Amino acid sequence: MPEKKIIITLDGWSGCGKSTLAKAMAKALGYVFVDSGAMYRAITLYFIRNQVDIADSVAIEKALAQIQLQFIFDSAKGSSDILMNGENVEDLIREMDVASRVSEVAAIARVRQFAVQQQQRLGEKKGIVMDGRDIGTVVFPQAELKIFMTADKEIRVQRRLKEFKEKNSALTAEMIRQNLEQRDYLDSNRAESPLRQAKDARVLDNSSLSPEQQLTLAMDWVREIIG
Ligand code: DC
Repeated sequence: MPEKKIIITLDGWSGCGKSTLAKAMAKALGYVFVDSGAMYRAITLYFIRNQVDIADSVAIEKALAQIQLQFIFDSAKGSSDILMNGENVEDLIREMDVASRVSEVAAIARVRQFAVQQQQRLGEKKGIVMDGRDIGTVVFPQAELKIFMTADKEIRVQRRLKEFKEKNSALTAEMIRQNLEQRDYLDSNRAESPLRQAKDARVLDNSSLSPEQQLTLAMDWVREIIG
């Protein structure tokens, strides 16, 4: 009998390693991994490039009609890159200009509707791990396994700093701290689908866990469900 395929959601604060765990789980299970934040980031990049006024609903509608998002699997990296209108924007969307604007774009109801529709379509066949802020509460409230991730703020800052340093970025810990604090505040206080822990989510605090340890814990939870 084929193994039961489930939907796994990972929500939580900015920079606590959701994508790292989601990717590792998808690889271990042979599931699709979807980074929903990448979709909001790509939309933000489009808005920045095209100077879309986020107070103008007509301009937003027009812009969304021009945006096609797609994920392509890069076998060398073992993960997917996001394409916006055919352009691979995976690296560009991680830059600070996008990071500092993405929360205000992600707070727009119409933008969320646009992204959520596509996310739900990606999960139709199950066998998916998706990370974000509202995946267990809004996108897949019926998901079999919901994980809410958290980590100490200073640990998150230091992990992000290391990632940026590896890319030779001149960003300081203070700049990263401010960005994480601002996004956490906006993401959890917006009117539309704010970041919330789903009632049936399992909390995973990875402040003192290695990537291997958090994967072991999460895979134990998966096995409890799929047997
Ligand atoms: O996961 P991330 O840091 O790449 O997400 C970027 C931003 O997108 C985050 O600050 C909030 C927003 N986001 C969201 O509102 N809902 C999601 N499901 C995923 C991300």
